[in-house]
Amino acid sequence: MTLTLLLIASLSNSVLSWYPNEAVFWAPGEYGYQGVHNGLEHARDFVNEWTVEVEGGEEVAQLVALELGYVFGGKVNGFPDTYTFLKYEHEKQRRTPSHHTSTLVKDRRVRWAEQLFSKSRVKRYPIPDPDAPLQRVKRLEANDSLQKNIVSRPRAPWFNDELWGHEWYLQDTRTMHNLPRLDLNVLPVYVMGYNGSGVRVSVLDDGIEHNHTDLRDNYDPEISWDSNDGDSDPTPRLEDLKRNSHGTRCAGEIAMTANNLKCGVGVAWGAKVGGVRMLDGRITDRIEGEAIGYALDKVDVYSASWGPNDDGRTVEGPGRLAIEAFKRGVTQGRGGKGAIYVWANGNGGGHSDNCNCDGYSSSIYTISIGSASQHGLFPWYGEICSSTLAAAYSSGAYKDQKIATTDTGDSCTLGHTGTSAAAPLAAGIIALALNANPNLTWRDVQHLIVWTSEYAPLSANPGWQINGAGLYFDVRFGFGLLNAGALVTMALNWTTVPRKHVCRVDAASYGEDTSLSSGQNIDVLIHVEDDCVVNYIEHIEVLMNIRYDRRGALEIYLVSPQGEVLVIYERLVVYLV
Ligand SMILES: *[C@@H]1O[C@H](CO)[C@@H](O)[C@H](O)[C@H]1NC(C)=O
Ligand SMILES: *[C@@H]1O[C@H](CO)[C@@H](O)[C@H](O)[C@H]1NC(C)=O
Ligand SMILES: *[C@@H]1O[C@H](CO)[C@@H](O)[C@H](O)[C@H]1NC(C)=O
Ligand SMILES: *[C@@H]1O[C@H](CO)[C@@H](O)[C@H](O)[C@H]1NC(C)=O
Ligand SMILES: *[C@@H]1O[C@H](CO)[C@@H](O)[C@H](O)[C@H]1NC(C)=O
Repeated sequence: MTLTLLLIASLSNSVLSWYPNEAVFWAPGEYGYQGVHNGLEHARDFVNEWTVEVEGGEEVAQLVALELGYVFGGKVNGFPDTYTFLKYEHEKQRRTPSHHTSTLVKDRRVRWAEQLFSKSRVKRYPIPDPDAPLQRVKRLEANDSLQKNIVSRPRAPWFNDELWGHEWYLQDTRTMHNLPRLDLNVLPVYVMGYNGSGVRVSVLDDGIEHNHTDLRDNYDPEISWDSNDGDSDPTPRLEDLKRNSHGTRCAGEIAMTANNLKCGVGVAWGAKVGGVRMLDGRITDRIEGEAIGYALDKVDVYSASWGPNDDGRTVEGPGRLAIEAFKRGVTQGRGGKGAIYVWANGNGGGHSDNCNCDGYSSSIYTISIGSASQHGLFPWYGEICSSTLAAAYSSGAYKDQKIATTDTGDSCTLGHTGTSAAAPLAAGIIALALNANPNLTWRDVQHLIVWTSEYAPLSANPGWQINGAGLYFDVRFGFGLLNAGALVTMALNWTTVPRKHVCRVDAASYGEDTSLSSGQNIDVLIHVEDDCVVNYIEHIEVLMNIRYDRRGALEIYLVSPQGEVLVIYERLVVYLV
């Protein structure tokens, strides 16, 4: 089999340089963290905290800290032999890394050490909305009649919750019955008897108001933690409840209590929800690594609606601890079947951001979810990329309906938006599938989504392609709109996919500096050796180091043997150095 990498330049007379040997691999098929974009290039500040891996146990680590003049800060949660060292006399925040790291690394008991730096992370609300003044939070007070421009629809006779009639993405609320169905098709799943019961979902965000009347019955303290304050209560910061409503909104979409009159109904209203408060403070690789693996022995699904800046200029992925946490999550989570990571793919459409440049949503370990509007269209804030697996409904143009959920201050909202709102709906649907078949592995879940997501409701959008497996695929919506009923039905009689086999192809010998002028392209043929028999491709990761004068002026495509200008099954991970 031969794949082709196609590099197209739009900068005249520039030299493209390859650095084939600088790539660092941890293991075949997986990219390393050195030399790729872990956020260091636009780190705001280095902080007075080091993550240190020490051989020989905690007492040795304490001794090393003492001898080298650090304050021992305890174990890093979830990482074996890894500890926090602090240096208080060290200038608190500075732009450049400290020389102390080299002293640490030289100590023979230290396997590895890294000074932490703070990372910029954005919640995936679409900001700013070009159609409307910033209308970030639409709160419903007790006596606020619901959004006035929405005609109240007759409710399906299911739940008595006040916003159930506005959950248009769970039940088609239109009165015209001759139209094709327009929702995520979850009602049949409830009829089949699944509500997410026995499944635990962790929301990694800015906190969860867990005593909210509509969340408290489904809240699970065992999987919850406050990383920002270092305690067990992830309640959002009270002084700034409006700004810190994001996590509470995402949690509500997943598991609002059913039939309690309050707010709406979560997609998986019988599931348990908890979370890690981690976005309301300084974010480092340690904070992310601990959150991504928090309570791994109990959590089934992690839902994250944030990431590096969606500004169209940032190419950034997880750091060492976060990568390790993902890998541990999929190998050790759910008794070895793998935790499911659901990720919002980004709201940078207004800046032409591409979600392949976000190493969280483009990771093979995450299920990256985009948005479709109420009218089945690609929203203005949506990002395109080959790593998007599927789409869920969310906000669209100004007048389109948004997502109904819980809000801080024990209130409710009809105004949750962006891919931030799409990803938790996917997490809820996956919880329903795990309720129906707990045997599913993390890879099974990806396969099921690929097979059951629907092209038809989104077919009005141009650009769909058919891949080598005969499935519709699009860089806006992945394999289409999630269909809960189809997914759960297929999950019930699903045979676990065979062990994955990783083929590593070294195309490093391609070439040295090549001059490339505007409009020209370079074809790189990647020949997969005959001893690696390829029947199906599940993920493709491409690792390359290229230097080019202007990053944004270079486009890279992967062409499959069948000739589609995309990956057969899904993931193309591209890092440009
Ligand atoms: C709601 O507000 C309207 C007008 O502001 C008032 O007439 C009505 O009594 C209020 N209803 C309740 C239940 O408080
Ligand atoms: C939740 O806890 C906060 C802080 O303790 C309190 O102010 C609020 O009234 C509680 N909400 C409910 C619904 O009990
Ligand atoms: C969810 O379904 C299970 C199994 O049918 C049932 O035992 C449980 O009571 C349901 N959960 C709720 C909140 O009704
Ligand atoms: C899950 O696996 C167990 C043990 O192999 C099997 O008995 C059970 O039928 C499986 N459940 C489903 C829904 O496939
Ligand atoms: C489940 O799958 C097996 C084998 O693929 C097939 O023989 C069987 O008919 C399926 N059962 C249902 C209920 O679809």
